[in-house]
Amino acid sequence: MPGLKHRRLGRTGMSVGELGLGAMDTPHSPEAIQTVTTALDLGIQFVDTARDYEGSEHLLGQVIRQRGKKDFVIASKTFSHSASGSQYDIDRSLKVLGVEHIELYQLHDISTRQAWDEVMREDGAFAGLKTARYRGLIGHIGISSHDLDILELAITCGEFETVMLEYSAFFPVTRPLIERAAHHDVGVIAMRPLGGSGRTSTMRGSIAAGYAGPLTPANLLRYVLSNPGVSVAIPGARYPARVIENVATASGYAPMTNAEQRELEDAAAALY
Ligand SMILES: NC(=O)c1ccc[n+]([C@@H]2O[C@H](COP(=O)([O-])OP(=O)(O)OC[C@H]3O[C@@H](n4cnc5c(N)ncnc54)[C@H](OP(=O)(O)O)[C@@H]3O)[C@@H](O)[C@H]2O)c1
Repeated sequence: MPGLKHRRLGRTGMSVGELGLGAMDTPHSPEAIQTVTTALDLGIQFVDTARDYEGSEHLLGQVIRQRGKKDFVIASKTFSHSASGSQYDIDRSLKVLGVEHIELYQLHDISTRQAWDEVMREDGAFAGLKTARYRGLIGHIGISSHDLDILELAITCGEFETVMLEYSAFFPVTRPLIERAAHHDVGVIAMRPLGGSGRTSTMRGSIAAGYAGPLTPANLLRYVLSNPGVSVAIPGARYPARVIENVATASGYAPMTNAEQRELEDAAAALY
């Protein structure tokens, strides 16, 4: 089986396998450690976490200690809007993870104009991240958002090296922003690539009941990876079996044609 293809993470200069792991819900599982370890053993090199994902940084710290090495890129996030708060969060992340450096640190869920104005003030969280980057505590600065206008600002303002945005057959409206990001050499991290846990749970139920249409986790992942502007897709997983399936998909998929993508979007729209 061929391995994961690598893609550039915008102007961070980093290159990572196009399949990452979203570790938001992973700690809420009896198989949490095995899920992360399986991902790393199968070649996943990019793991997304956040100060706010309860137990997630702690879990990654445990895995690093067990492996005796940190052989993957960590992307964490702060919810703070102030310079002092974001620096405090970075210090906490470093301690909990047990590392001296975090490759990517992101402003978390900046989805209103007010939040944007707060984090971009002279004493806002962005300034705190720049100080931490200067001190060598973090390598690169990104932002996550659920608002299309804020994402546009983040992509074009020249300050952010990556954006995290929702993109899937359920949520294709961010496609033009992904093109914009490629044009500005901003890395794109695709969150909720399978449409989120509610939809995947419904999907698993209908597949178990005999559904044989195109709406499958594998096709949803293919859809996201078929967009060359996506740097890395980060499906969430609590169980190793999901990771194994996703790595198998990402290692051997044929990119979707435009017609296949439209068909999947139609099937996704019909689910709800
Ligand atoms: N910045 C933000 O504001 C923000 C917001 C949301 C998410 N995120 C990031 O994006 C990541 C992914 O988002 P998400 O977890 O909400 O949505 P998602 O990745 O679209 O879906 C996750 C769900 O898909 C299931 N799944 C994964 N692989 C599967 C497979 N091969 N077959 C069947 N089911 C499968 C998982 O099941 P199990 O859990 O049961 O294994 C989980 O319920 C998060 O972990 C987080 O890092 C960021």
